[in-house]
Amino acid sequence: MIDSKKLKELYSKTSKHSNYQLIPNSLKPILSNKDIVVKTRQELERMNYLKEHLNFEGKKILDVGGNTGYFSFESLDAGASEVVYIEGTKAHAEFVKEASIQINKKIKVYNKYLNFKEQIGEEPFDIVLLFNVIHHLGDDYGDKNISIIKAKEEMANCINYFYDKTDILVLQMGFCWQGDITKLLFENGTKSEMIDFVKQAVNNKWEISEIGIAEEIGEKTIYKVLNDSNVKRFDELGEFRNRPIFILKKK
Ligand SMILES: C[S@@+](CC[C@H](N)C(=O)[O-])C[C@H]1O[C@@H](n2cnc3c(N)ncnc32)[C@H](O)[C@@H]1O
Repeated sequence: MIDSKKLKELYSKTSKHSNYQLIPNSLKPILSNKDIVVKTRQELERMNYLKEHLNFEGKKILDVGGNTGYFSFESLDAGASEVVYIEGTKAHAEFVKEASIQINKKIKVYNKYLNFKEQIGEEPFDIVLLFNVIHHLGDDYGDKNISIIKAKEEMANCINYFYDKTDILVLQMGFCWQGDITKLLFENGTKSEMIDFVKQAVNNKWEISEIGIAEEIGEKTIYKVLNDSNVKRFDELGEFRNRPIFILKKK
């Protein structure tokens, strides 16, 4: 039974990561973006970029740190046959579970913090979405007393954890550690440093098949393929839109 009021309440439950994502298209008939307060971090533009470069048809997707489910629901709309969603924040997982039941979408919801060590129990996947989670190591999950050097090693392990679990890994990460702008993961906060970090981390295991970079064209943000010009840091776009999107393919 459709219960928009319940969904609105669940969406509005606060956490430090609440009001982050837009309402996915399939939920719009029962919950509009006007009904809620949402910050949005280029979900639509990120998904458009993925659809340009990946085929979701018939694929099994894992959405790690799926928040309020934008990418889970949109993956199904793009043709995915199955979505597994893992989210540490209870309120967000409850929202996605309730919403998927109400509109009868096949999303398997796990409310837990993935520790990037244990088996998930749903392997293998065709595509794993690891969007903006690993820089929260030592904050949302993992050892809070770890050093930044060790944390970066662990983040590299988090990427490679998926090596035997998926053909394609989509990765995006932040420039600051533990959400603290004084703790830079890369000395100069540049895309090039992050790209070098990911190249070293994957250590020839994965092929970096695409790197998407946000560009502002007119009023719009569009993710374009990395080139000599867009690799520069665009301070005017803010930190989030300077985060590259990596599409990694198993070699
Ligand atoms: C910054 S938000 C990004 C949300 C979404 N992936 C995106 O990019 O739009 C990070 C989300 O991951 C969740 N999270 C952080 N660490 C996690 C972990 N180890 N396992 C599952 N969820 C995690 C947080 O609760 C939060 O909802």
